[in-house]
Amino acid sequence: MSKTYKITLLPGDGIGPEVVAEAVKVLDAVAGKAGFALEYDTRNAGGAAIDAHNDPMPDAVVDACKAADAVLLGAVGGPKWDHLTGRLRPESGLLKIRKELGAFANLRPVSVPASLAENSPLRPEKVAGLDLLTVRELTGGIYFGQPVGEEGEGDDRKAWNTMVYSVGEIKRVARVAFEWARKRRNKVTSVDKANVLAVSRLWRDTVKALHQAEYADVELDHMYIDNAAMQMVINPRQFDVILTGNIFGDILSDASATLGGSLGLLPSASVGGPVGLFEPVHGSAPDIAGQGKANPLAMILSVAMMLDALGEEAAAAAIRTGVDQVLDAGYRSGDLWREGNKLASTTQLGNLVRDAAVAAL
Ligand code: IPM
Ligand code: MN
Repeated sequence: MSKTYKITLLPGDGIGPEVVAEAVKVLDAVAGKAGFALEYDTRNAGGAAIDAHNDPMPDAVVDACKAADAVLLGAVGGPKWDHLTGRLRPESGLLKIRKELGAFANLRPVSVPASLAENSPLRPEKVAGLDLLTVRELTGGIYFGQPVGEEGEGDDRKAWNTMVYSVGEIKRVARVAFEWARKRRNKVTSVDKANVLAVSRLWRDTVKALHQAEYADVELDHMYIDNAAMQMVINPRQFDVILTGNIFGDILSDASATLGGSLGLLPSASVGGPVGLFEPVHGSAPDIAGQGKANPLAMILSVAMMLDALGEEAAAAAIRTGVDQVLDAGYRSGDLWREGNKLASTTQLGNLVRDAAVAAL
């Protein structure tokens, strides 16, 4: 009997449902040929869950995610829910599911094939062949640190968050970065603000000690976040694996994503717990939702990351080949379209990748 994976789908808001539909289409097609099956459980998340249950991540949805082999998430948020605060915001639902799944390592790979170098805001010769992986700590740091609060009135009104990491939290995410580096070009750049922040000094000391004890074969350097942001613009090809905390990783990964010309191409995997969460880095893009303009490739590439994590490497590779072939053939959604390209809708891109991926298996 062939293997059946249980996948919880969280299409979410805006373009989320459209891109998830294309990703599922591609997934079903490659599964049929690779000889495994999928069982889906579709649930509301983010704004959709606020509308339905007045909660951006109801406990029942969390339970459905925990019961799955993997979770695919589209995007959450939009202007309709922007007036909400605190736990009622769509974004807080996303933070909750990451935390509940124990997904402490967020992998955000960026590669720029020659066919996309022209799309970059940088000169093509600066980015052609670029291939970097950000490993962002995802369930700690200033996103989750206590205390957090607000008090007072007028000019005395103040608010605070806490940036805190334990040695254990730093070590487990650093291990993920070192392990990936060994499978890649064997280099880790750890990014912090150790010239100012105590939490960053602990970060740096911990990464150094772990490196010496277990990963001395991997090249390691340390960079302050401000310098790293600059290096991302002037010489991004120097990076192999970037290891960093939650908020620095949030910022740097968006910067890295634009190197290939569009956020619409960047997948991510949030792993470390028993069930992985796979989602594109882009948001819900409410301005183009429902118009067939969304780029489904980041979501489709997130499915490839999921298949790798499930051990279905051949199917994952076929999907990546499919995406490369479709881009090489000149098909582009609006975010990437340039003179000479073929403008393709969300569904067309999904169909093209599906056919190319199946043919590549
Ligand atoms: C991301 C997003 C989220 C984050 C938001 C939507 C909570 O920007 O996945 O990068 O800050 O982690
Ligand atoms: Mn972000």
